[in-house]
Amino acid sequence: MSRFLNRFRRAGKLLTEVDPNRLPKHVGIIMDGNGRWAKKRGLPRSAGHRAGAQVIKTITEFAGNMGIPYITAYAFSTENWKRPKEEVDALMQLLLEYLRDKEQIAGRDIKIRIIGDRSALSDEINAEIDAVHEYTKDRTGTTLYMAINYGGRQEIVQAVQDLCRKAQAGSLNPDELTEDAISERVYTEHVPDVDLIIRPSGELRLSNFLLWQSAYSEFWFSDINWPDFTTRDFTQAILDYQNRDRRFGGR
Ligand code: IPE
Ligand code: IPE
Ligand code: MG
Repeated sequence: MSRFLNRFRRAGKLLTEVDPNRLPKHVGIIMDGNGRWAKKRGLPRSAGHRAGAQVIKTITEFAGNMGIPYITAYAFSTENWKRPKEEVDALMQLLLEYLRDKEQIAGRDIKIRIIGDRSALSDEINAEIDAVHEYTKDRTGTTLYMAINYGGRQEIVQAVQDLCRKAQAGSLNPDELTEDAISERVYTEHVPDVDLIIRPSGELRLSNFLLWQSAYSEFWFSDINWPDFTTRDFTQAILDYQNRDRRFGGR
């Protein structure tokens, strides 16, 4: 523990206030504000994305050490294709570098899973995704779901299509098309629903992130742009979460 505290000094005393027995099991992060971060510094947007990619490495490791089993990070939405080609290309290039950086992820006990519609991604990226999945598959620490070409609606549609195909083939009774059946077919499969969604950069919306899994999530918003987000901010989000009263419709 002391090595951990020393390593993440920025989180400092705050970290000692976290109740390790009441941690969220699944935290979602909308990594937003990279462009504005870069603009403020007179840098190209791609520099903001690059800085943001470093931050998710730090935060995942930190969350893993804290004992949070699942993180889902929103890296590229099904709507982000609307951006200029130049920016999309830069994001895809960065993704490739991130996936290839096995040294970075090698020493950690983090399992990486890419979620989203992979059919629109290049063969090169798909090959790296397979390689990273294979490389980290036996890891038992935190699982990082990296959402790429991910859309919450798209995810629900593909789950329902899958079930309809089964029904059509006669292997599923329509009465079995239940909430549980959908939960098992969204990309996060058997992972618990997301407990806490963190969105920096001042935007107060979901932007098509984890629609199915967020029915009873807690939300934590902040004006900080993602590249400035620190382990201290993450710790503050966890502490605030631990002070919420989650009733799930009960009393
Ligand atoms: C988030 O940062 C990264 C992606 C959506 C890929 P943005 O690029 O949306 O940054 P802002 O919101 O324009 O500042
Ligand atoms: C959401 O951010 C998607 C990701 C962070 C990957 P956007 O910047 O795309 O969201 P909007 O357009 O502001 O809603
Ligand atoms: Mg944005």
